[in-house]
Amino acid sequence: MIRSQPLSFPKSFQWGFAAAAPQIEGAAFEDNKGPSIWDTFARIPGKVLNGDTLDVACDHYHLYEKDLELMAKLGAKNYRLSISWPRIFPKGRGSVNPLGIDFYNRVIDACLLHGVTPWVTMFHWDLPQALEEDFGGWRDRRTADAFGPYADTLVKSLGDRVKNWITINEIFCFTQDGYGNGTKAPGAKESEQVVNQTYHTALLAHGEAVRAVRQYGGHGARVGITDNPIPTIPLTETEGDIEAARQTFIEINSRVLEPLYRGEYTDAYFKVVGPNVAHFQQEDFDLISQKTDFLGLNVYTGQFVRTGANGSPEILPFPKSYPTADATWLAHAPQAIYWCARHVAEIYEVPSIIITENGAGYDDAPPVNGEVLDLHRRDYVRNYLRELHRSIGDGVPVDGYFLWSFMDNYEWMDGYQRRFGVVYNDYATQQRTPKLSAKWFGQVMAENRIL
Ligand code: BGC
Repeated sequence: MIRSQPLSFPKSFQWGFAAAAPQIEGAAFEDNKGPSIWDTFARIPGKVLNGDTLDVACDHYHLYEKDLELMAKLGAKNYRLSISWPRIFPKGRGSVNPLGIDFYNRVIDACLLHGVTPWVTMFHWDLPQALEEDFGGWRDRRTADAFGPYADTLVKSLGDRVKNWITINEIFCFTQDGYGNGTKAPGAKESEQVVNQTYHTALLAHGEAVRAVRQYGGHGARVGITDNPIPTIPLTETEGDIEAARQTFIEINSRVLEPLYRGEYTDAYFKVVGPNVAHFQQEDFDLISQKTDFLGLNVYTGQFVRTGANGSPEILPFPKSYPTADATWLAHAPQAIYWCARHVAEIYEVPSIIITENGAGYDDAPPVNGEVLDLHRRDYVRNYLRELHRSIGDGVPVDGYFLWSFMDNYEWMDGYQRRFGVVYNDYATQQRTPKLSAKWFGQVMAENRIL
């Protein structure tokens, strides 16, 4: 008799949804929140599709109670949220805005009321505009110095209830896109050296946050960073291609992972940055490479790599017909999640990996008879989960998975058109409608297996 094997996950596996403050909260200028670089950037004509701003977004600032109720109803036991730095320090530093703290107290309490464990990201790209103006933002280490007291404030105010801390989300994105090609806030186009400097400042800020959690986090506090290394997928799972993928992984991701895990800029880093090395002080690495408890990985797509004709690794471009989501950067490459997790486990001996984001962006049509049949998203996530399951079976220490995203939200320069949510949001009425993928994922979480 043919019987399918249940694709179960380990008992202690953590499932949940992920979201970020600037993409859902709205209330961009309410209760003394200062402007972020995204509030400014979104107002520059031509930068964001349809000129969409973050002003209202999903109005989660006012609707958080209902949102958490829905999240719990769908079966989530964990929620990765982020805190808006300019809501806590409207100018990035100086005096705290108590109304900002109050809001996150309410959100955390609502999580706990519904049996949802909060995982809090301290920085998800919404840098206070004042720090961009006063210091040049991530170009300058004074921004990392300001991050220290901000992290202290969060841990001291929320640390009695928040035990899982994520320092920074995706250094690669807000540095390269924000200061290199200018497609994200603050929209600067700086030299490669300056971009490498922004990475360095962000790594220092991460270090400050780890220090804050160790100092004030109390019993059971855990901390990690969320990185989005470019996953390198061996074209074939043969020794040669696997080695090519591994070498390429180390090099193309060397600006973040090497200093974090090796405690220095290594040869791989110097090879990649050439003469454009960031200015650093030797003792910076004591702060940067403090031991963390887990590594968060955001995985969406990857690059195929093979041993090239001359024996060196060769990165293959995606051919035009390769399947993608409506977000065309999002090539459908489920093996990325297997290889990304496996590479970091093998290369850096990471003890615990949490997939802090994975999901798919499509331009879903509004509900019909109360339904959004997003089979495309369901199948995308399902294929990635099968590869994640394979990695665990092979001994990779993956301990959790957060689906991006709970509800449709502000997709940065793609505005509100591109939808990553498993809950459909009607921005005119703020009505939430769980899509087919939400109900399916709820069942996956409840049964702890792929269905
Ligand atoms: C970011 C999210 C974003 C998602 C989809 C990740 O890079 O952390 O903020 O919405 O990808 O593009």
